[in-house]
Amino acid sequence: MSTFQAPKGTYDLTPPRSATFLAVREAISAPLRDSGYGYIETPGFENVELFARGVGESTDIVTKEMYTLTTKGGSQLALRPEGTASVLRAALEANLHKAGNLPVKLWYSGSYYRYERPQAGRYRHFSQVGAEAIGTEDPVLDAELIILADQAYRSLGLRQFRILLNSLGDKECRPVYREALQTFLRDLDLDEETRRRIEINPLRVLDDKRADVQKQLTDAPKLRDYLCDACKAYHEEVRALITAAGVVFEDDEKLVRGLDYYTRTTFEFVHDGLGSQSAVGGGGRYDGLSEMIGGPELPSVGWALGVDRTVLALEAEGVELDLPATTSVYAVPLGEEARRVLFGVVTELRRAGIAADFAFGGRGLKGAMKSANRSGARYTLVAGERDLAEGVVQLKDMESGEQTAVPLTEAAAELAKRLG
Ligand code: HAM
Repeated sequence: MSTFQAPKGTYDLTPPRSATFLAVREAISAPLRDSGYGYIETPGFENVELFARGVGESTDIVTKEMYTLTTKGGSQLALRPEGTASVLRAALEANLHKAGNLPVKLWYSGSYYRYERPQAGRYRHFSQVGAEAIGTEDPVLDAELIILADQAYRSLGLRQFRILLNSLGDKECRPVYREALQTFLRDLDLDEETRRRIEINPLRVLDDKRADVQKQLTDAPKLRDYLCDACKAYHEEVRALITAAGVVFEDDEKLVRGLDYYTRTTFEFVHDGLGSQSAVGGGGRYDGLSEMIGGPELPSVGWALGVDRTVLALEAEGVELDLPATTSVYAVPLGEEARRVLFGVVTELRRAGIAADFAFGGRGLKGAMKSANRSGARYTLVAGERDLAEGVVQLKDMESGEQTAVPLTEAAAELAKRLG
């Protein structure tokens, strides 16, 4: 193993590709910030208990994939595998739900950790941007979130994604369905582990990818037939609202999701260019989560979009983001005196809000001009001894190649004018 290798299932973000990640985070969060969502940041780890109770003791995330640790003080902590439970915990701790302004709308961006088998698009450390709307049961809120995710993907130029939509029922109708499903599943020819799953989390069995299992599921009872009238009406309203917004979706009654807290609306965003790890985002309503973690009744809805997979989706579609060069002016000093003088000009430009960089290390003209080119700067400033003696610097327009001598004292102002 090379000493410089990042841990298995992880990778580093380095320039220039890292700029795409920043742009994706920005593009996903922009519609949220414009829609009344406030920024929240929570710790990278929480008490294990929060996820065990919140995400669910029967999920793979909790039983197999959590990075847990015991502190020197004896606390059981876990690196966060997802954001929803943490955000809700933080909102409850800060009493945001009592400020008389429901729903509490929050967005977040950060690193998450799951001990999964690494493969393309599936990592042990990954990044999400998420949104949670806490404390209100209103189909318009579910619709808002789905529409904002669609807007985010579209603003990035993604087109080959699909929205899968389902309703998982509520605490009235889901238990009835669950029992009917269990009765059906118990009669099938299934292996031991799947049999255990029937007892703990039967809906997950519907998600089984194996053909021999799927074949036996054709006549399984459908959740759709068990939804109570209130859930049915709620779901129809969500569907009508996103349809009215012109957002295309597919009904997917097999959509179950890998976290236990969901009720009613659930959805996933999938991209067809990604192979088996096709979910670029997912979410839904979680009306019971607050009570599961010891809080009051706070019906809520949210989603999280995977930044890593969104970048892979952009690459799969061949979308090049229009990322403007970060440097506008690049200074190339020739000699000691020019170094001091041009560094002064660069500092002045930066203070005026103009992005400027500098050829460090006293390199020759040729190498420095290469760096200037690579920086994407629109202008370079070059000065040698003779220029300084005349009180000028050479200002070169890197697009037209045109070069003009500008009085040193006016260089910053001239650049500010040209760069608008
Ligand atoms: P999730 O479906 O587990 O939901 O994750 C959301 C997204 O995070 C996935 O669609 C995927 O893009 C990305 N993701 C998950 N695991 C990995 C991984 N191992 N490697 C790379 N990307 C990954 C949640 O986390 C819920 N908290 C979403 C939510 C918010 N529901 C309600 N509010």
